[in-house]
Amino acid sequence: GGDFNQKIDYVFKAVLIGDSAVGKSQLLARFSRNEFSLDSKATIGVEFQTRTLEIDHKTIKAQIWDTAGQERYRAVTSAYYRGAVGAMLVYDITKRQSFDHIARWLEELRGHADKNIVIMLVGNKTDLGSLRAVPTEDAKEFAEKENLFFIETSALEATNVDTAFVNVLTEIY
Ligand code: GTP
Ligand code: MG
Repeated sequence: GGDFNQKIDYVFKAVLIGDSAVGKSQLLARFSRNEFSLDSKATIGVEFQTRTLEIDHKTIKAQIWDTAGQERYRAVTSAYYRGAVGAMLVYDITKRQSFDHIARWLEELRGHADKNIVIMLVGNKTDLGSLRAVPTEDAKEFAEKENLFFIETSALEATNVDTAFVNVLTEIY
């Protein structure tokens, strides 16, 4: 309690992008409310969640935007990226195609976002390790080549989810 008088030092907008079903909405549910659902519905249009946190003794309000991976449900692209200072580029470690599409998502991001945007490549669903189709090394190599930060997460097990968002927010700040 007592946080209703909280002074916000910074408000940062970050966006989630990547193919449908890679876990963007569940990463956001885990980060913003510490929740997870196995029967998550595909996102239609745009949703956003906020979480206020302390970084380096500053109070930062993270406003995280989430849109559909499916083309027909997607939001207006330019509005989605406007003002974003961070981006999470998400693929599913068990779906090679979702990783192969990252180059396209990156192209869209670089075409619409501010050139100083902080970008984190996120390989989600590490709890499904026995079904892994994308070696960590492949993603690491791609991230280095494209100058992206990189992390693997599990929204289900809450592994590295806070770390992923906090690292992006810290880099922005
Ligand atoms: P769109 O809204 O269509 O773009 O999809 P999305 O990327 O938001 O995917 P969503 O978060 O809805 O998750 C898709 C499915 O993957 C759901 O059944 C989730 O429960 C599941 N899922 C998400 N994250 C994880 C995870 O870390 N591990 C496992 N095992 N399943 C996950
Ligand atoms: Mg979604």
